[in-house]
Amino acid sequence: MNSPRLIQIAHDDPAAIRDELLAGLAAPTATISPKYLYDALGSRLFSAITELPEYYPTRTEAAIFTEKMQSMAEALGPVATLVDLGAGNCEKAARLFDPFQVQRYVAIDISADYLRESLENLQRQHPAMDMLGMGLDFSSTLRLPAELGDAPRTLFYPGSSIGNFTPEDALVFLRQAHAACQGGALLIGVDLVKPIAILEPAYDDPLGVTAAFNRNMLRHLNQLAGTNFNIADWRHVAFFNAAASRIEMHLEAVRDVLVSWPGSERRFATGERMHTENSYKWRADDFAALLQSAGFTRLERWTDDNQWFAVFAAFS
Ligand code: AVI
Repeated sequence: MNSPRLIQIAHDDPAAIRDELLAGLAAPTATISPKYLYDALGSRLFSAITELPEYYPTRTEAAIFTEKMQSMAEALGPVATLVDLGAGNCEKAARLFDPFQVQRYVAIDISADYLRESLENLQRQHPAMDMLGMGLDFSSTLRLPAELGDAPRTLFYPGSSIGNFTPEDALVFLRQAHAACQGGALLIGVDLVKPIAILEPAYDDPLGVTAAFNRNMLRHLNQLAGTNFNIADWRHVAFFNAAASRIEMHLEAVRDVLVSWPGSERRFATGERMHTENSYKWRADDFAALLQSAGFTRLERWTDDNQWFAVFAAFS
């Protein structure tokens, strides 16, 4: 039996993280990158979100994969190397191994350690497969290490994480994905525009799980940047900004607050907001045009009956 290899390609250094966070906090409208939603508890809360009845993206995408798997396998042909961008527990990719005849699996997540247990379990089920776990933060630049070789690859980017990029940054990311697939393909999930009555509860659920996910970011900031946020001072706000075609998440001060950190402080007036996440909702044709602008020439797409979510295969 093969055993999975794990490599860590460099962590951001703590001082750079602190500087980035504090610059965002001091900006006229305080803005924090959504990547700081995901400490250990934040990742668990996100997992809980995916089980909420209101959060349609995960189950809608999963249903598309179940129903359209055969057609996707035919479009992609046998996959020599599957590169899973943001692999987490590797479950989504594992469903593709047999239908896509995957020979080598490269799981990428922010920390190689997070991948160890999932990869060891998967390796037992697929003893002959070559498996590599890579700790790499590709949120600002997607560049894969040369040791992966120069053969074409299939990049897998499900979950509509592309929606957390602005359209400009999404184009940059897709161009990098086009280069990184080396003549292969990108298989990507995208959340689509739909009625507000479906969109908003998905990001402001009655159980308050998304609120906890958003407010938990303050605990994480206290750890990373030495701030003294009091979670009780902040409430979760989420709404669909139709002009920008995005859900916005904010944290809003429920009273006047003074937040301090080593070397500085900031006052927030009651009702003042910090912007914590955008989740863009695309029209399928606009996303197809974006993939083409990024250099992909041939596209296939699959959607659910409601046209709530789309999966694209984009070929170089
Ligand atoms: C990870 N990402 C695609 C999720 C989304 O829907 O934008 C993150 C999320 N934020 C709130 N709920 C889920």
